[in-house]
Amino acid sequence: MHAKGFLFTQKIAWDNVDDLKQKLDEYFGPQWVCPEMTQLNKDIVKGASAPSASECLVGCQAGVLSWLLGLKSAGGKRLAYSLLGELAYRQSHKHGTSLAPAISVVQGPHQETMVVPNRGNMRYIVFGCKQPAFRDGNTALFDMAKAWTLLPSKLQDRLSRSSWLVTDQTTIPCVVKHDVTGEPCIQFFGFGHCATACVDVYRSMTGKYHVDDDPTAYAQGCVYQKPWLTVDEKGNKTPFIGLDLYTFLDCIYKTMIVKEWSKGDVVIVDNVKFAHGRLEGPPGGDDKRDVLFLSWGSRKSRFNIFDFERVGPA
Ligand SMILES: [Fe+2]
Repeated sequence: MHAKGFLFTQKIAWDNVDDLKQKLDEYFGPQWVCPEMTQLNKDIVKGASAPSASECLVGCQAGVLSWLLGLKSAGGKRLAYSLLGELAYRQSHKHGTSLAPAISVVQGPHQETMVVPNRGNMRYIVFGCKQPAFRDGNTALFDMAKAWTLLPSKLQDRLSRSSWLVTDQTTIPCVVKHDVTGEPCIQFFGFGHCATACVDVYRSMTGKYHVDDDPTAYAQGCVYQKPWLTVDEKGNKTPFIGLDLYTFLDCIYKTMIVKEWSKGDVVIVDNVKFAHGRLEGPPGGDDKRDVLFLSWGSRKSRFNIFDFERVGPA
């Protein structure tokens, strides 16, 4: 599987998400599975009678969202987005979701679900373009192995000794060795406090000063909403801010590949080696853009970031 590549575009004829999933099953082989919808999503779809507190929250969000979307105005949609985040915009299908529409904001580079050690078993993620935006609405892909080689040795040294502090109970290594190539791959989640820095670097690199940072606050309660902290092997916590943060982001953005979508494109992304981020849409947003999102993981050995070898100090 790995030998087929870490980032590639396939031209696969497909009609809908179930058809795409079946084609990908054939492509990946039987030991790879696309996670089914979560029980939570299933319950929401069915209208579960006794939801938990978190289910109530999501259900409430869905209700508010449908009201806001009912306004059918760009302002209403921006408000919905800023209040509820992208997840509420996604449409669940049986085997995947449609991504949020492209609006004026740009996401920071991130590996999908990086803040969770099992990464939702998302070893690979798959984007399938049903319908591109009429303008823009691209997806950025970042080669985190290449970015590592661009880092100054001082930062390599710090990150090789450190983990990101996600919560008081959860840390994620800042860099791991790729399981096939052995290349050090930076692991990152460009949301929360550093979202503005991510977009600053994107703005200065592209000259697109009109774009905004993504207001989405994923996984509320995570420490990363404050400055990202790194924690070293002795337990010392240090904010990852200022020149270190900007130098780091500069190296990541130097590896950016901009995927412009065409109808039918399928892009399969190694979710350890590559980070990704949604880029801006046309002014006022774009309702036409429909990019499906699926993920793949091994059925036999489920993803665990701690199974990956750490990188020795520089
Ligand atoms: Fe993502």
